[in-house]
Amino acid sequence: MKKIMIAGCMFLAAGAVASPFEKPAEAIKYRQSAFTLIAANFGDMAAMVKGSKEWDQKLFSQRAQFVSQLTYMPEEGFKYEGSDKGETKARPEIWSDWNGFSAKLTTFQQDMANLANVARDGDEKATKRAFAQAAKNCKSCHSDYKYR
Ligand code: HEC
Repeated sequence: MKKIMIAGCMFLAAGAVASPFEKPAEAIKYRQSAFTLIAANFGDMAAMVKGSKEWDQKLFSQRAQFVSQLTYMPEEGFKYEGSDKGETKARPEIWSDWNGFSAKLTTFQQDMANLANVARDGDEKATKRAFAQAAKNCKSCHSDYKYR
């Protein structure tokens, strides 16, 4: 009897884990937090590329791996129902043009994965080129899908 009850509980729990959020505000906070982490790591890489901070291939590579992983996280926060309303700068076009938004997210993921690979290989020049390519994604998506 006890076993059956535990199995029942696990089934319920499995249904609930489809989303980690209980309300739209949590989904909004989650995706904004992911972007905050992306921006902090990306900003440090930008400082090294610009030369305002000393070049450190190992540190750069670590940050690129972090950002690459982080690019997979915001999507879940946008998919949560009702998260188009609240304390958010997300434009309604994200949901009315999901395919367009999703394509920008995919390009972002690909460019950051490429940057992470190139940075790991250790060539400074190639790393800077890959960074310039990856950096285009922020503005490209924000100008269409984020309020300023
Ligand atoms: C595919 C689209 C997309 C890409 C690519 C993207 N962003 Fe964003 N970003 C958004 C959207 C949409 C929001 C608004 C989220 C909200 O308020 O709910 C946002 C919000 C932010 C925020 C504000 C977070 C907060 O606390 O409110 C920062 C900072 C940010 N992005 C930085 C970046 C940087 C840096 C890059 C590039 C390395 C980037 N973003 C790439 C769509 C994108």
